[in-house]
Amino acid sequence: MASSTRGEDLEPLLEFLKTARGLDFTGYKRPSLQRRVEKRMQAVRADSYDVYRTYLESHPDEFVELFNTILINVTAFFRDPPVWDYLRREIVPQIVAEAEADSIRVWTTGCASGEETYSLAMCFAEALPESELGSRLKIYATDIDEDALAEARHGAYTDDQVEAVPTDLRERYLERLDQRWTVAGPLRRAVIFGRHDVVHDPPISRIDLLTSRNTLMYFTPDAQRRIIANFHFALQPGGYLLLGKAEMMLGRSPLFAPVELKHRVFRKALRTDDWSHVPRVRPASQAAAAEDGWSIRDAGFETGPVAQLIVDGDGNLSLANLQARTLFNLAYRDVGRPLKDLEVSFKPVELRSQIEKAYGERHAVALRDVEWTQSNGQGHVMDVQVAPLFGDGGAVVGVGISFIDMTRHKRLQEAVEHSKRDVEAAYAELQSTSEELETTNEELQSTNEELETTNEELQSSNEELETMNEELQSTNEELQTINDELNQRTDDLNQSSSFLESILSSLNDGVVVLDDELRVRAWNERARDLWGLLPQEVHGRHFMNLDIGLPVDRLRASLRGALAGDSPAAVVVEAKDRRGRAISCRVRIAPVSAGAEGASRGVILFMETSP
Ligand SMILES: C[S@@+](CC[C@H](N)C(=O)[O-])C[C@H]1O[C@@H](n2cnc3c(N)ncnc32)[C@H](O)[C@@H]1O
Repeated sequence: MASSTRGEDLEPLLEFLKTARGLDFTGYKRPSLQRRVEKRMQAVRADSYDVYRTYLESHPDEFVELFNTILINVTAFFRDPPVWDYLRREIVPQIVAEAEADSIRVWTTGCASGEETYSLAMCFAEALPESELGSRLKIYATDIDEDALAEARHGAYTDDQVEAVPTDLRERYLERLDQRWTVAGPLRRAVIFGRHDVVHDPPISRIDLLTSRNTLMYFTPDAQRRIIANFHFALQPGGYLLLGKAEMMLGRSPLFAPVELKHRVFRKALRTDDWSHVPRVRPASQAAAAEDGWSIRDAGFETGPVAQLIVDGDGNLSLANLQARTLFNLAYRDVGRPLKDLEVSFKPVELRSQIEKAYGERHAVALRDVEWTQSNGQGHVMDVQVAPLFGDGGAVVGVGISFIDMTRHKRLQEAVEHSKRDVEAAYAELQSTSEELETTNEELQSTNEELETTNEELQSSNEELETMNEELQSTNEELQTINDELNQRTDDLNQSSSFLESILSSLNDGVVVLDDELRVRAWNERARDLWGLLPQEVHGRHFMNLDIGLPVDRLRASLRGALAGDSPAAVVVEAKDRRGRAISCRVRIAPVSAGAEGASRGVILFMETSP
């Protein structure tokens, strides 16, 4: 089925979910989203997104199943214990101390069924005096999934679920009620649960600690950036942000400063325009240079690392230090010559107009990244600065020109940029791999939970089957006993039958036994000889309808009498045997006894012949 949706466009289905149910999944990463949707499609045997959409339209209950599958609610109390140890030890006490007497506002997004939220509440409860818990602590716990929120509000958990809660905390903050652990009242009252979509809804504000673990990794990088900017807005200055394992890289934004990377704790960073309050370093005082410093000053100028020229008010080169002379091939005799006559006036950059500008504006003119190739082929990148020099009266008496060689710096900068890009690409890849891994992990965990449930169901069905099996076995044994009894009775019956048959056949008279409806039940050998019909030909037939040589009509009255319980006198009738010979037949009829009321169960006829 997955292969049939490969290449198919998921977007129309996402648009449909948005308009039909107001849930917008367009900000979710496609691979995981696709896997989750396909899982549902498999369950309802839909082999394309279109078919699945039609199915959703005609089975509204499927929306719930789909949302439950997409919104993976895997969570636990104190999930990832080292983070909680760190939080309890370092961050929570700091927040409580910094808040002084103010209220403490915590926001936990993607709270699922509440375990993480109550873990946080326990950490704060441990750091606050009991009397202040209700009044100072507010934990806003939000999720997009109403079902999960309902569970969280209920705050009742099984033994397995609370296993990770340290015993002392469990005793203090959870209560045993109807086979479940319920969050105790004061702690429960500090938490406010609500539906909130981190992608689309505006953030809650003035937050001291914001946790968003294992929720952002489901979103596209674009959606993640928007959410992170919202988190920055939500936090107080210096507020803390706690992210999930796979979301570490998201905190590495200029908006946040890492506090403890191992546990993914960050702090809201000051923005560049907030730096005004940072104390600035005072400008260093000018050293009171000794006035005998001319020669020292000259030496300093001469040996300075930056190439420098001084041009006087007449446009003549007054000074050129060693660096400048070497770089621009100047000789001592060039000092004193008009600058315009020297190559340096237009190479590496046209200087005359810059000098005029410095004169005109009375402040330094800076040219950045001037590229220049020396006659020996060596390339340079320079920052050139033309600064006016002021005389005692404040008049501009010349300019100082500095050529700062930025070549190494530039190369380093390029190399750094390059490495930065590589690192960013690697970060992005790592981030996405780590998110994908964590997502898959959570999916696996959720599938595992489903499998465990299925396993438990199977186990219980198995137990039922085994019980049924035992019951069947016992019924089988009972049947076997009944069968044995029946066999025994059949044997008895067969014996009785053959005994009766042998009695009947040993009689010299023809014997016929009729039931209370005068149907033939027994017909002995002699009767067969007399009337020419086999027992199987007459068995069950009405005696009065038999076509035999005996005039049965003549016997009707006697038969009725016998059936009524009388013992009629024998009747002698003229008959014809099976060969058509005339015989005289004496028929005695006797009732077959039938119990209390005296009614007969049938009659027995004895037929005695004489030629
Ligand atoms: C894997 S759980 C994480 C639970 C908890 N934070 C933890 O780490 O144990 C992810 C939660 O994010 C929620 N979620 C998914 N999309 C969301 C959205 N757009 N806005 C808010 N919560 C969302 C899901 O409903 C689910 O409860």
